[in-house]
Amino acid sequence: MSNKYYDEDVLSYIDHSIILNPFFDEWYGYVEKILLNDEFQKRKLFPHHHNISVWDHSILVSFRSFIMSKIFNADSRNTAIAGLLHDFYPWSWMYSEDLEDLDGGKYLVEVYAKHSLFEMHAFTHGEAAALNYVKFFPELENSRITNAIKTHMFPLTVIPPKNKEGFIISLVDKFNSCNEMPSPRFVAEKIKNSKIVVRATKAIGIK
Ligand SMILES: [Fe+2]
Ligand SMILES: [Fe+2]
Repeated sequence: MSNKYYDEDVLSYIDHSIILNPFFDEWYGYVEKILLNDEFQKRKLFPHHHNISVWDHSILVSFRSFIMSKIFNADSRNTAIAGLLHDFYPWSWMYSEDLEDLDGGKYLVEVYAKHSLFEMHAFTHGEAAALNYVKFFPELENSRITNAIKTHMFPLTVIPPKNKEGFIISLVDKFNSCNEMPSPRFVAEKIKNSKIVVRATKAIGIK
């Protein structure tokens, strides 16, 4: 098994702005066991959005949702845990070379799978994560955490979250995901420098 991802020194892999927050110790107390878990640490190798791993994304969503839970009087422990596990689906939805070497490439199976629209990652991964967290953390199972994870992609899930924790995580997740997207300038540069555009512009004589 690859050992590139695992490190007991969890704090080295958490953004300083989170560690310095006055509520950090409370949040860390709720989630330390998850962060030290071998399967969860593999999410450092799972790409999420542009230049960010599922590990980093999940920590940000968990911590920001946990802070929001204090403002909106939701259950902080459930919010921290569900936020951290909301994308704990058992596969990667994006390719990375590191995942080729991890456990025989088993996490890449969905990258190559062909699905109809409603079987695609965006529609199915909440449900998959809600099952997967129980497999790895049965002692954490409760209906509020399960529901928040399952419905975090609302309105794609059609059925909304049943509790405040779920609504907070769903909103924070969307806000973070927008933030993690590349800037329009980055996308424009990528397109401009892509092989096909370079060839086409050369062919028609544009510099
Ligand atoms: Fe998600
Ligand atoms: Fe997410």
